[in-house]
Amino acid sequence: MKHDFFNDLDSYIQDTRPGFEKQLAELVAIPTVSTDPDHAADIILGAQLAVTYLTRIGFTARVVPTAGHPVVVGELIGDASWPTVTIYNHLDVQPADPGEWQTPPFMLTTSDDKYFGRGATDDKGPALTALMATKYAHEHQLPLNFKYIWEFEEESGSTHFEDFIVAERAALDTDSVLVSDSVWISAGRAAIPYGLRGLVSFELRLQTGRSDVHSGLAGGAARNPLGELMQIIIECYDATTGHVKVPGFYDSVQPVTEAELDSFVASGFDAKVFAKAHGLSSMRTVDNRDLARRVMAEPTFEVHGLLGGYTGPGIKNIIPPAATAKLSTRLVPGQHPEQTFDLIKKFINQKHPDVVVSPGDACEPYLGAFEGSYTTAAINATNYAFGSTPAFIREGGSIGSVLTMAHHLKAPIILLGLSLPSHGYHSVNEHYDWTQASGGIKLFVKYFSEIADIKRGHITSS
Ligand code: BES
Ligand code: MN
Ligand code: MN
Repeated sequence: MKHDFFNDLDSYIQDTRPGFEKQLAELVAIPTVSTDPDHAADIILGAQLAVTYLTRIGFTARVVPTAGHPVVVGELIGDASWPTVTIYNHLDVQPADPGEWQTPPFMLTTSDDKYFGRGATDDKGPALTALMATKYAHEHQLPLNFKYIWEFEEESGSTHFEDFIVAERAALDTDSVLVSDSVWISAGRAAIPYGLRGLVSFELRLQTGRSDVHSGLAGGAARNPLGELMQIIIECYDATTGHVKVPGFYDSVQPVTEAELDSFVASGFDAKVFAKAHGLSSMRTVDNRDLARRVMAEPTFEVHGLLGGYTGPGIKNIIPPAATAKLSTRLVPGQHPEQTFDLIKKFINQKHPDVVVSPGDACEPYLGAFEGSYTTAAINATNYAFGSTPAFIREGGSIGSVLTMAHHLKAPIILLGLSLPSHGYHSVNEHYDWTQASGGIKLFVKYFSEIADIKRGHITSS
């Protein structure tokens, strides 16, 4: 049966390409920017299109509203005795500034086998790749039931995802979850993450006046909110080494094991390749092991933006009345967003009581398993589709919904991402490519066929 099952796969993948490209173009054309309230109507359009895609291949699908953006759920149940896989992707995207792109960000532009557009690789392309594989499995009678969860709030911290999971729990029983929203080590080196960092972002705001004042008239007496915010930031962390100076910040960090670091380095994690892939002209370290530790297993403190003062041409000799700093910290297992935020806020306000510290997005870190029958299936599928064994890594990025699903669905979660470092995650000229898409279809079809054979027994009812 397995031989027949895979017989049509190569021709299916070739035949499916125009449809894949058309759907990716339609999805990219809807600017589903979840962080920007002006795009709320686009999110609704995106959710409706997503339902159309699912129903077209036989799913029952619906838009589930939340207090924030909706979630699209679908199911394709062949037989209650078959195992069920739940596939998670997010269809919201980061904002994009058209002035900085070489092509319009919300218009899919194909060049060779690359697909340029906001969300092409994070995460609309991988979502459609999984959908094409699902269609094949369904058309070839694979004894596996499918459920889909397409989130539209991932890029803004999955704020209402837990409410959604709790409300819909009865419809979400599953034997396992597949998440495709992560990045390989490099092209040709597949990576399966078993961990994700958490995150808490926050803003500092300081107001010391009403409007700009002349720095000759008031300079020396007036406080400078921009300068003070910079000082506070440097009290929080050493910008050269990255070391966080907030007392207690590292106390609960669960240290990475030497064996894990060995395996990250052995899997081909290389400082030179990393710097090149991300276009970094210099880094805090060039040591492979130290680099792996820093991006996979240590918390960070970052300054994303500083607002205030004069930024036009030339220099304007004013003292600004207010300033804002946008910051975040990535968290590793052992740390929690609320606790970490409280530590930082307390530290800042002890020294600078008039600075307003307000929280933004938050999500918990995640650490899963990298053994067991689903992991074996993922290894076999990677070998089959890409001709090599995957590296087991921890991702430096965050996916808030993964921890929520692990907590409530109580089923094994496998992260099989398809993005490459060169795809420009969150950056200008973001793209996906047909090599990853076609290999990805093969990967998922093989993975589905493997997990269809795994004995049931994981289903837990709420
Ligand atoms: N797909 C990424 C997460 C990711 C990043 C996985 C890098 C692997 C490597 C996801 O879409 C994302 O960008 N998440 C946000 C979450 C945040 C807003 C809570 C992130 O990591 O900043
Ligand atoms: Mn993503
Ligand atoms: Mn993202």
